[in-house]
Amino acid sequence: MNQVAMPLRIENLKKSYGTVEAVNGVSFEVKPGEIFGLLGPNGAGKTSIISILTTLERPTSGRALIFETDVTEDPMTTKRQIGVVHQEVINSGFFSVEEILEFQSGYYGIAKNKERIHYLLEKLGLYEHRQKKVKQLSGGMKRRLMIGKALVHNPKLLLLDEPTAGVDITLRETLWKFVLELQREGLSILLTTHYLEEAEQLCQRVGIINYGRLECVEPTQEVIQKFTQKKVVLQLKNPRTFVSPYLQHSEANNFTFRVPMEKGLGDLLSELKVGSQEIDDVRIVEGTLEEAFVAVLNNK
Ligand SMILES: Nc1ncnc2c1ncn2[C@@H]1O[C@H](COP(=O)(O)OP(=O)(O)OP(=O)(O)O)[C@@H](O)[C@H]1O
Ligand SMILES: [Mg+2]
Repeated sequence: MNQVAMPLRIENLKKSYGTVEAVNGVSFEVKPGEIFGLLGPNGAGKTSIISILTTLERPTSGRALIFETDVTEDPMTTKRQIGVVHQEVINSGFFSVEEILEFQSGYYGIAKNKERIHYLLEKLGLYEHRQKKVKQLSGGMKRRLMIGKALVHNPKLLLLDEPTAGVDITLRETLWKFVLELQREGLSILLTTHYLEEAEQLCQRVGIINYGRLECVEPTQEVIQKFTQKKVVLQLKNPRTFVSPYLQHSEANNFTFRVPMEKGLGDLLSELKVGSQEIDDVRIVEGTLEEAFVAVLNNK
């Protein structure tokens, strides 16, 4: 059977630093054209995984394959396929924005890359700052420059380690729009972020990592379904009392119920014996990825 090459396949990956087991048997894939979110608290092991993918670190055991090539066996090939935005901002301050992108192109053996560089500068809102030395840039601009650097060679897999930390809200939105555009062009993306609302909007699938172990890998909506409950906020015309395992909060004629995602509103109302003529207002508040994340980490 002719299978499509998987952009990223991680198999039972382990990484120890002395006695610290930073990555402890992690397996997951990034599928063609998807944005995969690797989520976890500080120190969970996210950057350690990315460092292995970029061959900055060697795995203690297990494998990481980029388009089916093992990163430790053929780092030259795999490096060409990936673009990386590191968590730490690193740029040499004495060159201009444009020069940095030219050097980066040269690193990949691309001599004439002006068109792509200008395209990236425009997309990243850096065009008017292209002559500035890096040391004259703000923190958010430096981060955008790093994203530009990651893309000069047209990679097929983009690794984004906290790319929007320190970037203001408007620019974050611009950046995500650009990332979605790149996705539409066929780029596959591995993203780590602490902005869970953004991950919920962007990522088709997420993996939640804690103490070096993946607690779950699933489509984002399934994670939310599985680990959260929805709220039904009911406002009645008159005060009432309810005896219900779902009742979370009540005050006069306002009631909040926490119900499993699969439970329908009709079922709940008939269980509660509430007739439609009694209702003033009813609202359903769905669970969020942030709630699911907290629930997974608390092992609920
Ligand atoms: N070079 C290193 N030497 C020793 N320990 C390290 C090294 N790099 C990371 N660690 C440890 O490995 C664990 C995982 O760190 P890692 O940077 O991968 O976490 P992270 O999930 O990226 O966290 P954050 O969200 O804070 O960026 C932590 O306990 C960290 O202290
Ligand atoms: Mg990190």
